[in-house]
Amino acid sequence: MTEKDFIVPSGLEYPKNGKSIWKAPSNIALVKYWGKKPDQIPANPSISFTLDACATKTSLAFEKQEQISSGFSFDLIFEGKPKEDFKPKITTFFERILPYLPFLKEYHFTIETSNSFPHSSGIASSASGMAALALCLMSIERAVNHKMDEEFFRKKASFLARLGSGSACRSIEGDLVQWGKHIDIPHSSDLFGINYPFEIHPTIKKYHDTILLVHKGEKTVSSTVGHGLMKNHPFAEKRFEQAHQNLDRLKGIFFEGNLDDFIQIVESEALTLHAMMMTSQPYFILMHPHTLQIINKIWEFRKATNTPICFTLDAGANVHVLYPEYVKERAIQFIQDELVVYCENGHYLCDRIGEGARELKS
Ligand code: PMV
Repeated sequence: MTEKDFIVPSGLEYPKNGKSIWKAPSNIALVKYWGKKPDQIPANPSISFTLDACATKTSLAFEKQEQISSGFSFDLIFEGKPKEDFKPKITTFFERILPYLPFLKEYHFTIETSNSFPHSSGIASSASGMAALALCLMSIERAVNHKMDEEFFRKKASFLARLGSGSACRSIEGDLVQWGKHIDIPHSSDLFGINYPFEIHPTIKKYHDTILLVHKGEKTVSSTVGHGLMKNHPFAEKRFEQAHQNLDRLKGIFFEGNLDDFIQIVESEALTLHAMMMTSQPYFILMHPHTLQIINKIWEFRKATNTPICFTLDAGANVHVLYPEYVKERAIQFIQDELVVYCENGHYLCDRIGEGARELKS
């Protein structure tokens, strides 16, 4: 598929007004996306677990305007209050997706959005937020484009969400989503995320993710800046190659449910992401001393008890502790006994693999 396939057929009669509501989950990458080309095209393919509890709920009310406006007309309400500082990001998103949703300037929108996780938790809401908004907008198109099937609806929602925030395209489907062209993954695309097309062992499908909130403040370097620093990065090409190789290796690992090899790839990916940051020009560090203490505790515990528990990191200090369902009790006990002390105000979030975004009735 190409970008052209997402252009809306002409001659559709759009509704005068209406409302759509979607809940879209966050996701955590196992093979990381870090580095991009123009138009939000990833420099390497990635794969993520779709989460369940960490999600954004967005309601989009739309009303046709008397006249088509020159800019975009919308109000943004975040957790019950107007939120002016989120508006530029939405405007940029609307500008990027206008060629694919030409009706955007015909409406005044009221966007009401809230997250299931605390705003200042250091958990990026851009993935779930952009995914939820893309789905709400797609509901407008679906109401009038009767030729559209469910598969295309979700594909285009992922395509649009990507233009808001790259990793958001992995927040439409569950349970494992792959994004970015990989020669051995059929139907994989740089334009949207797909459901992982190969067999996955039941142990992998039931993974848990406990997110340790190490540092809840704003990141010192944004993802956008971080991605940009992969241009001219001395190790970039090797890193991009490595991501392809890790995806190759994961195919067998997912099939067999080989947790030792799974852990080795997932932890190496997390540390590589941060190694890229530390070797950029300018260099930067997003980990916190507690991030490292948690990693060491996880390694000690895994060695001492043979429990298949591991970590991954996002572009921040928080630690995602990953473990299969069958060690849940042991893992939670360990987290409470030994890791919670490193969390800001003792805060952590319990999550697990989820099934993807869903529409809510108003
Ligand atoms: O979607 P962005 O532009 O916020 O980038 C996300 C990058 C990572 O979270 C660090 C990795 C990933 O693949 O999700």
